[in-house]
Amino acid sequence: MNNTLHDFIAGLPKAELHLHIEGSLEPELMFALAQRNGIKLPYASVDEVRAAYDFSDLQSFLDLYYAGAAVLQTEQDFYDLTMAYIQRALADNVRHVELFFDPQTHTSRGIAMATVFAGIARALRQAKEEHQFSGRMILCFLRHLSEVDALNTLAAALPLREEYADLWNGIGLDSAEVGNPPEKFAEVFAKANSLGFHLVAHAGEEGPPAYIHSALNILKIERIDHGVRAEEDAELMAYLIRSQMPLTVCPLSNLKLCVVKDLRQHNLARMLRAGLCVTINSDDPAYFGGYINSNFIASAQALELNREELTQLAKNSFCASFASAEKKLIWLNELEIYVENWR
Ligand code: ADE
Ligand code: ZN
Repeated sequence: MNNTLHDFIAGLPKAELHLHIEGSLEPELMFALAQRNGIKLPYASVDEVRAAYDFSDLQSFLDLYYAGAAVLQTEQDFYDLTMAYIQRALADNVRHVELFFDPQTHTSRGIAMATVFAGIARALRQAKEEHQFSGRMILCFLRHLSEVDALNTLAAALPLREEYADLWNGIGLDSAEVGNPPEKFAEVFAKANSLGFHLVAHAGEEGPPAYIHSALNILKIERIDHGVRAEEDAELMAYLIRSQMPLTVCPLSNLKLCVVKDLRQHNLARMLRAGLCVTINSDDPAYFGGYINSNFIASAQALELNREELTQLAKNSFCASFASAEKKLIWLNELEIYVENWR
């Protein structure tokens, strides 16, 4: 890639809408937290951890991801994790993140819901204060668990809603997709909807287009996480273009989890050129080999994205966010000025 396009991406203001905070746990921090909390890891070194990140599909990743999250125990651990991500995001010129967190991964190990919220929120509030960095939290249900478990998780989190009203505004659905269709969570999403939360769900990552249909029609989601398998359904594609329903696409994740064999075969550029509202995101950057700018750069390289297309992707990231119209306008203006200055 020429240096200019690389630099253009580096400085491009952008939002990240698909980021699992537990997936930003770098092996170095994993080791440091394990030591701090007296936990024995099944790895001898950071290099050994990285060497284990050779996945064949989503489940092979999730097994390691949930095991790694066991080092997160205290409020300070969740703060350190979140602050480390924010530093990387700031370096990549991310202005706004809507981060996912999986409370069930932690409450099932005896960690209090309040501990998870407090650590993540302290880092986001500090970053707002010190860097005008904007952040929101999307609580995700683990779809391999039951809907009753999800309902109990929502009930356990709701008493914290007021305390975190500035941050927690969304509900999502993640973990093992195939065999756990969106409709399994119809009741808990209806409840979250009635409470006024924004709704998103992973759909069409490994699962069929039918899962995207049910996430849209039954769960009433406002954004599709991944959604790359939408391309197999022409009518669905037409609807996604017409409605400008956003897709949070994660190219390096798709590559690492063998959703695509080669980034050059990724449908991100085809979908963008067909007029879908697609965005680029990092998913679990510590596990998939790169933060958001690495995803932009690898995609630009593999798919020959030009400056206009990269600008559209950044624009989509702001438009597809759940931020206020005022904030969106500020970021879009900043983006326009940035692009103007490159002419
Ligand atoms: N949890 C973390 N990353 C995920 C992904 N890519 N798909 C589903 N669940 C996840
Ligand atoms: Zn994800």
